[in-house]
Amino acid sequence: MKKIDVVLGLQWGDEGKGKVVDVLTPNYKVIARFQGGPNAGHSLHFGDTSFVLRTVPSGIFREGSINIIGNGVVVDPVSLTEELTSIAAQGIDVKSKLFISKKAHLILPTHRQLDAASEAAKGKSKIGSTLRGIGPTYMDKTGRNGLRFGDVLAADFIDRYNRLKSKHTEMLAQFEGFEYDITEYEQKWMEGIEYLRGFRFIDSEHEVNQYIEQDVAILAEGAQGSMLDVDFGTYPFVTSSNTVCAGVCTGLGVAPTKIGDVYGIFKAYCTRVGSGPFPTELFDETGKELARIGHEFGAVTGRPRRCGWLDLVALKYAVMVDGVTGLIMMKSDVMDDFDVVKVATAYKVGGEVVDHLPYELNDEIEPVYTEFKGWKTKISDIRRYEDFPAEFKTYVEFIERETGVPVKIISVGPDRDETIVR
Ligand code: GDP
Ligand code: IMO
Ligand code: MG
Repeated sequence: MKKIDVVLGLQWGDEGKGKVVDVLTPNYKVIARFQGGPNAGHSLHFGDTSFVLRTVPSGIFREGSINIIGNGVVVDPVSLTEELTSIAAQGIDVKSKLFISKKAHLILPTHRQLDAASEAAKGKSKIGSTLRGIGPTYMDKTGRNGLRFGDVLAADFIDRYNRLKSKHTEMLAQFEGFEYDITEYEQKWMEGIEYLRGFRFIDSEHEVNQYIEQDVAILAEGAQGSMLDVDFGTYPFVTSSNTVCAGVCTGLGVAPTKIGDVYGIFKAYCTRVGSGPFPTELFDETGKELARIGHEFGAVTGRPRRCGWLDLVALKYAVMVDGVTGLIMMKSDVMDDFDVVKVATAYKVGGEVVDHLPYELNDEIEPVYTEFKGWKTKISDIRRYEDFPAEFKTYVEFIERETGVPVKIISVGPDRDETIVR
């Protein structure tokens, strides 16, 4: 094949990427993250074990896997060290399984403070950031001021760190009334850097292309979702990286012609955490039911996720921009008891019905729904597509027709085993 396959989220994040990557890993030798950072929270469940991964690729628990943090990722040494020490405590030899790109940018303690200060200054129009320093770090990257993992090896690393830190300190002084103290975090940060020196820093673009050339099965794992992409998401309520498939090319250094299968993950309904437009959001009992049954609380921040019906207008847009070749539907089991299940197939904008995503998703947009009869069956024990109730198959096949893409995997519960591959 000599290609790299991709798994990415098609909505506003938290679609279940961690679970899917963990399920797919037996088919892949190498798993690589290409963007984002510790704003991600990817949950894995197997047997009695549960884990939330933030920067480490979700292949880490599989025997013999190689996991790469690509150049497009931004890394907080504190968060990564915490993550790796807790994985190592499970008896996993992390040092032989995880490699870090020298070109991945470092999140400084002051980047986190800049994130907090900027959000506080925005007041009501805040993004609802996870406050992990993601935006300010990518700003320094594109502003050509950033520090990269490879810089850790330089003799004057601490000087470079201090220069960037003092630039940030000046910027923070502009935020009136913003107080902060990074003493403790900075110490942990430096300890993290020392710990991470024990890992292999790699020229990841060379390694990734070698794997592709040698026909080693390799999977790129996305973070966030396409509707949070800095170019194509609901700007400015987005994250600061390209979460769409094109991000694989820039975030790992692979050519577009090397992209293989693109698996697009979506929840059978929709969620969003943080601020920003969400046309199918439900403010009624049904929305509360989705949140309750789906345990819709952020894996990183614990914030409640906003819930609503599946939005096919947005989903089709993501399928187009990402070039999705196979869909993966998650959390269908959450709607097992629903009498009616709805899907937005168009929007009404100023009296006019449109079926494409408009430039701006403002409050005037009204979703146009298609209704389906609920399946009223506990589907989490089902393991073959044939055994699903007819109403459920109608729902799946409608989504396939509308998007023009087959639903290849259906997830009916958080565990590895609760998965149907068609
Ligand atoms: P990610 O960020 O895309 O990896 O997703 P998260 O881990 O943040 O959120 C997905 C949540 O849904 C996690 O708590 C998963 O354990 C859970 N989950 C994944 N798939 C399913 C499923 O099919 N059914 C149910 N009920 N929960 C699921
Ligand atoms: P995973 O990989 C859901 C959201 C935040 C906020 C916006 C910007 O677990 O799907 P940032 O911290 O990037 O400045 O936040 O993006 N956000 C996510 N929402 N899942 C995520 O990651 C997210 N990462 C960021 O809530 O609205
Ligand atoms: Mg998540």
